Amino acid sequence: MNIFTYSYPVKVYFGEKAAANNLVTELSKVGKNVLLAYGGGSVKKNGIYDELVGILKEAGKNITDFTGIMSNPTYNKVKEGARLAKENSIDFILAVGGGSVIDCCKIVSAQAKLDKDIWDYEYAEHGAPTEFIPMGAVVTAFGTGAEMNNGAVITNEEKMMKSPLWGAFYNFAILDPSYTMTMPMKQVISGAFDSLSHSMETYMGSPRNVNLSDEINEATQRNIIRNIRATLKNPDDIEARSELIWAAAMAENGILKIGKVTDFQCHMLEHQLGAYTDCNHGQGLAVLHPVLYRHMLPEAAPQFARMAVEVWGIDADGKSEDELANAFIDALADFIKEIGLPTTFKEMNISEDTDFRAIADTTILTGGCAKKFDRDELYKVLMECR
Ligand code: NZQ
Ligand code: ZN
Repeated sequence: MNIFTYSYPVKVYFGEKAAANNLVTELSKVGKNVLLAYGGGSVKKNGIYDELVGILKEAGKNITDFTGIMSNPTYNKVKEGARLAKENSIDFILAVGGGSVIDCCKIVSAQAKLDKDIWDYEYAEHGAPTEFIPMGAVVTAFGTGAEMNNGAVITNEEKMMKSPLWGAFYNFAILDPSYTMTMPMKQVISGAFDSLSHSMETYMGSPRNVNLSDEINEATQRNIIRNIRATLKNPDDIEARSELIWAAAMAENGILKIGKVTDFQCHMLEHQLGAYTDCNHGQGLAVLHPVLYRHMLPEAAPQFARMAVEVWGIDADGKSEDELANAFIDALADFIKEIGLPTTFKEMNISEDTDFRAIADTTILTGGCAKKFDRDELYKVLMECR
């Protein structure tokens, strides 16, 4: 195990009525002017907006709406939010949504307190913001676990980059599974697959021998797989959604990463695919993972073989490490088909004309991946996904 320090700043309120029971207490700790941030309108249709506005008013807050945060949030949207926050002397941001709203607000919170352009500050000057508007997250779509970390994935349309920026941790996160019941089933599945991907990306990091984090990780993966199937069987199963919302948080709250350098090469490739196509994150991962993993053989075989047995329950008897590693990739690919995720870019309506060469050439290469990819091989991976 690598050396580590572990402490965690995000307070989690889990369960039905978590907002009604806890939000007022949290709001009593912050100033009067609240930026209420959300996406394209689902929160207005399902009643979450009205409920939260009621609680904010009861707490005597002035509300400024920051609306229309899109999936794959853009840098221009971050700038709009920071402008609103400054103009309205915002004391606190309440982000209500999935990963896109939650990520966008992390950077709004930092940009509103910074005189420089935060993209340049972090990428050109290698600076790290230190002042933030405090924030709370109300999760309405699970999967990314974005409420648990201080990284945000932002699409800079001018630079054609979908890249991580670093912002603040949330003071608290409200995880109420009943808020997720109106998620479209496609988003439930792509979100939950994203959580499985986060677990795998962490597992596949180094060191490559198994430690306690990896064994908790194996259980997390089994849990996600089981509860995706349960949710597909019965979309009203709130217990399955409870498991999925917490599994998403578990994959990103740092526990699985303790003592490890993570992989996340598949994520970096998917993010650039997103920069060029604005595709759904979980769907992009579903297409890329099996193809990328076949390219990671034989370097990754020991870890794949262990996941075959410990996560997918494949009988190791009489099988070589290579056979088990291949069986793992087959099981993953079969599962992706079984749960109705796409298996090719074509199924995602990603055009043949997409500049795959540019995507490969601008993808961040990660240090924790078992295989040291070069850009030509990433390009091959993309071509095989078509
Ligand atoms: O915009 P509205 O109308 O609210 O609709 C949203 C959106 O269309 C809808 N939705 C959310 N809650 C709902 C609901 N519809 C009905 N009922 C509800 N309760 O769901 C759609 C997708 O939302 P979005 O937030 O875009 O999805 P997701 O949570 O998958 O977030 C994706 C973003 O997170 C980034 C991705 O790259 C992508 O930009 N990620 C962030 C990570 C992080 N910070 O740790 C890690 C991930 O790897 C990921 O990269
Ligand atoms: Zn992800």
